[in-house]
Amino acid sequence: MNYNQRTVSLGKTDKTEISPSSLLPPSNKTKPLCALNKQGVKHYTDCTFDMYLESTDIDITEIHGFNAWREACLEDGTYGFEAARLHAQDTEVTVQRESGETLCMLNFSSYNYLGYTAHSQVIKAAKHALDQFGLGAGNSPILSGTLAIHKELENNLSEFLGVEGYSISLFSSGYGANVGTLSAYMKTNHVLVLDTHVHASIMEGVRLSGSEICYFKHNNPQHLEKVLKRVAQTNSRILVCIESVYSTEGEIACIAEVVTTAKKYGAKVFVDEAHSTLLTGPHGRGLCAEQGVLDQIDLLVMTFSKAFGGVGGALYAPQKVIHYVNWYAACRMFSCALDPAVTGGVIASLALAKGSDGELKRARLKENAQHMRSLLATRLDIGKSESWIIPVFYGTEKKSYPLHDYLQRVGLDTGLMQYPAVPRGRARLRLFITSEHTSEQLEKAAAILFEAAERFDFLNPR
Ligand SMILES: Cc1ncc(COP(=O)(O)O)c(C=O)c1O
Repeated sequence: MNYNQRTVSLGKTDKTEISPSSLLPPSNKTKPLCALNKQGVKHYTDCTFDMYLESTDIDITEIHGFNAWREACLEDGTYGFEAARLHAQDTEVTVQRESGETLCMLNFSSYNYLGYTAHSQVIKAAKHALDQFGLGAGNSPILSGTLAIHKELENNLSEFLGVEGYSISLFSSGYGANVGTLSAYMKTNHVLVLDTHVHASIMEGVRLSGSEICYFKHNNPQHLEKVLKRVAQTNSRILVCIESVYSTEGEIACIAEVVTTAKKYGAKVFVDEAHSTLLTGPHGRGLCAEQGVLDQIDLLVMTFSKAFGGVGGALYAPQKVIHYVNWYAACRMFSCALDPAVTGGVIASLALAKGSDGELKRARLKENAQHMRSLLATRLDIGKSESWIIPVFYGTEKKSYPLHDYLQRVGLDTGLMQYPAVPRGRARLRLFITSEHTSEQLEKAAAILFEAAERFDFLNPR
């Protein structure tokens, strides 16, 4: 693809062959799913994710519209989503796109923060668990799916975090841990007070709970106090929900201030430590521990898909809460328990992370993140990132697909975030820095980003 003279077809080999129906559903009698230009066609790069999110039609118009967009990208050779990695996640990856094309890239889009996904000891432990317990757990945990290896992981995590009287509930994903916990713990007559930037899985749990929802300004305990002052008068259960390291911006939450404010008004606190467990705090115990408030958190969720290098999630809470959630979180009660091999691997990641291996890797992770932030901040907008998650803002959604394709072709894989995951017009690339990246890889990635920013017009003046 020549990015200097870039021409794009609209989903057929020749522009003239395109009819409006190629981007619209066959019988779209109500409002079109995307606005039309003079020729009756919206160019695929002008189509955004949210255009196919809603539909009030009887026909499956949004599905037709979305597929027309997807085919247009594929025919233009720019569809880089779900490109299959040909090996385990590493700092460099070879991927095969749906078109069959193979690309080699620096990998800044995986959560494999400490490189445990393919660590020899983790793999060995996973294989051992597979041999001992088989492929699947065979039932939901509350019935017959709990295996001895699940108990071992629960005990190891409880001992690691160390709050008296707290224990662990395992879920088959971090997403499920948030949805299950919030929907079980909060009821229709309760109030949830949410940071405006909380993750989609928290929002889903919140919606399922049926509780009343209030928001406070992002990472702003002063505004939280204003909201709490008002809602405390309702005299009902109040739960304040935050993340530790915000996944869309890479900011560090002021958890200690949130806790002090919440407790002042009798509210409980929920923290999603997806992007901080094993990565910071004493022996990797996370950000709540680092800020000295771990024992004051009412509900703490962690995921095994990030620093642990596996998949799954856990709630850490007072034992009575755990017993209740184990029964009343529907996605735990009605879904199979964590698979044994992953459980074995996660036990091994935890053992590595809390010891000297973890200390070394955490130090390298922090150095790498600091190095990359200072490189990028010279010419790019990286917002308020203070962590290993670094957003690079490019603004309008319209740049998303060509930019994503361009980066992959020139050898850089990053995440892509756009509305409605983030506010409209604040679209961004998202880089996950790991302890495993070398300085050369960081510098090469920064150079690629500067070049991209110049071409796509988001490079800040010197
Ligand atoms: C803040 C946060 N919470 C929860 C999740 C869901 O975790 P999982 O991928 O383990 O289901 C994610 C995933 O990206 C996340 O970023």
